[in-house]
Amino acid sequence: MQAQMFKVRVDALREEAHGIRSFSVSRLDGLPFDSYEPGAHIDVTGPTGITRQYSLCGDPSCRDSHVFAVKKEDESRGGSRSLHDEVRIGSELSIGAPRNLFRLEETASEHILIGAGIGITPLLSMAYRLVAIDAPFTLHYFARSETHAAFLPLLARAPFDRHVKLHFGVGREALSDELDALLRDANERAHVYTCGPAPFMDVVVASAQKRLPADAIHLERFKAEPHAQPETSLDTFDVKIASSGETVRVDATTSIVDALASIGIEVDTSCGEGVCGTCMVDVVSGEPEHRDHCLSKAERASNSVICCCVSRSRSPVLVLDL
Ligand code: FES
Repeated sequence: MQAQMFKVRVDALREEAHGIRSFSVSRLDGLPFDSYEPGAHIDVTGPTGITRQYSLCGDPSCRDSHVFAVKKEDESRGGSRSLHDEVRIGSELSIGAPRNLFRLEETASEHILIGAGIGITPLLSMAYRLVAIDAPFTLHYFARSETHAAFLPLLARAPFDRHVKLHFGVGREALSDELDALLRDANERAHVYTCGPAPFMDVVVASAQKRLPADAIHLERFKAEPHAQPETSLDTFDVKIASSGETVRVDATTSIVDALASIGIEVDTSCGEGVCGTCMVDVVSGEPEHRDHCLSKAERASNSVICCCVSRSRSPVLVLDL
């Protein structure tokens, strides 16, 4: 079952960089949006009916509008392409409520935001918040060139200009050294946040891990990366509903979401590929085989939640808080 959506009107469109367009939307019913946490993302359903997740990149304290940005993907199956080619000012879209899996740790002594390409978007909403609470931070933005870098006029103005460092045309071979250099003086209680292509984030994480503990390194993925098939998951297992004691069998070709639907239990879903966190459910007992891309290391280690669209079980029975 798809999470609840509501109608918005497109009030402004901007070409922010080569292939990156931003959208400012307001509610059709004229009501303000609920406030949201910096780093949050929303579901957006475009003209083709395809739903994708996009990070909010405006000021989280502004409730009149939501701003998100979309990169036109070469291999788009219609989602990003239709948002670029078919949407005009005045168009109506459907969006979901913000969800956040990429949280600021506001008690950190220093915040180091490292983004590449369209990965600037969640970091921008974090930057608004960090300015608002007067927290020390630096936003490092990597892009192929100036024309590929989004929001440059905004980043070049106060209050962001003194926090922003731009890195253009850094090749794959030089990236590790560049990141090592910029993280060398990181305070030991600093937190690092990164968003961008998976290979870029892998290098950021490798560099940050040389200096900081794992729980001080945060990342946001835009799409699922292939998982190696784990050897420990079971082909078939049972899911038990904690509230009723009812049990349903999950076989090798069925997701937990689909198995639950077969006994009339609907779990909200959106991406269906373990990225957005919509289908997250608390685990009462049993050992999940986590195949998502959105839980934190701490959540994985605790086995306290599971993303039911993709994850499976290592134990014969998984009891869920439903
Ligand atoms: S529906 Fe997005 S993580 Fe499961």
